[in-house]
Amino acid sequence: MDHFHLIDGVMHVENVPLTTIADEVGSPVYVYSQATLVRHAQVFREALTKAGIENPHIAFAIKANPNLAVLKVLAGEGYGADVVSAGEMNRALAAGVPAKDVVFSGVGKSADEMVAALKAGIGQFNIESEEEGRELATIAETLGYRADCVLRINPDVDAQTNAKISTGKAENKFGLGLHQAPAIYARLAALPGLNMRGVALHIGSQLLNLEPLETAFGKIGKLIADLRNSGHSITHVDLGGGLGVRYKEGDHPPHPDEYGEMVARATKGWNVQLMFEPGRVICGNAGVLVTKVIRVKPGSGNVPFVIVDAAMNDLARPALYDAWHDFEAVEPTGERFTANIVGPVCETGDTFAMAREIDAVRQGDLALFRTCGAYGATMASTYNSRGLVPEVLVSENRYAVVAERIVPATILEAEHVPDWLA
Ligand code: LLP
Repeated sequence: MDHFHLIDGVMHVENVPLTTIADEVGSPVYVYSQATLVRHAQVFREALTKAGIENPHIAFAIKANPNLAVLKVLAGEGYGADVVSAGEMNRALAAGVPAKDVVFSGVGKSADEMVAALKAGIGQFNIESEEEGRELATIAETLGYRADCVLRINPDVDAQTNAKISTGKAENKFGLGLHQAPAIYARLAALPGLNMRGVALHIGSQLLNLEPLETAFGKIGKLIADLRNSGHSITHVDLGGGLGVRYKEGDHPPHPDEYGEMVARATKGWNVQLMFEPGRVICGNAGVLVTKVIRVKPGSGNVPFVIVDAAMNDLARPALYDAWHDFEAVEPTGERFTANIVGPVCETGDTFAMAREIDAVRQGDLALFRTCGAYGATMASTYNSRGLVPEVLVSENRYAVVAERIVPATILEAEHVPDWLA
């Protein structure tokens, strides 16, 4: 459920018409609904607790939407943060997430990032290789810390999602294979700088089927038993994120309740603190990208090009993953046509949809792409010397610009011509 709906023929976010936001902030603009974020955060937590998972540690995967105000909303719901860079860690801390609730994931943590995270007192490092574990152990020992860690396992399952966002197959760069994990775990557990306390996994994103997760959790259950048999104390298991959302009619992502029940079933008897890293399922449907039609150009075979002022640099998912985002007029007339939706960037990849039946929009009309709250603004670039799109948060009848538009002139100011060219 979300809070994007038509009132008197105009699309509103909660009680604010998108026409007002577009008039005052301009387009393109990302718009988020606070009530939707809160609802999703609560539904996810309740799904776990209802299934009998006591006191789950839920760390929002900041990469999905790192906006400070969004993080503040989720921190208010008691969410921790899953971070993959010092930049993300600093955002989490700035939003008021307690350091102990921050989990540091990622395959390439630098030594500087390890130092910063240790000094900040974050709760857990998810280690992805023996090399990384040894480096962290040395740094921690030198600085007088003992880092709480889990080892990320690559369970070699096919998450049945886009190849670019699959992370749990043996050929992916993430984690350690089940065959090598026990020996590496034992070697890392012997290092004084580390407190090895469990394992982690994350097999991929936008999962529309729970089976691969359940298979992976089964493999992790066996590993936990093996590690315990070898004398290790396993107290924490981080099950990652990955739950998909509906982008398109016909998508049937599992409800968080089904996920909760599956987790409870798969982890029965583990007797550990379960940890979660949801991203998309919390914020995906809580945001839209509002855009304006620049003009409509005739195309071949009577299918026109609707050229909008948002482009692949603002919303990269269609170009990167062939992702579908529903497109709707902000003030739909009921008239429909078949069109190609494209942005102004100079490559054919800057295409949001081909030959899709959509609201019949005309030059100057406002429209929106749905389900842009996750992996939207955060993946924007300035390609073609375009600016960065602002972000707006709505709560009931209020709204605020929570990230300013960065105009191309500001980006140009950070560039310098060396004196030998001046
Ligand atoms: N934990 C780890 C270690 C991750 O790598 C990710 C996502 C998550 C949690 C959160 O996954 P989620 O619950 O959001 O599925 N840019 C892509 C998605 C990349 C996901 C990367 N890792 C997209 O736009 O679809």
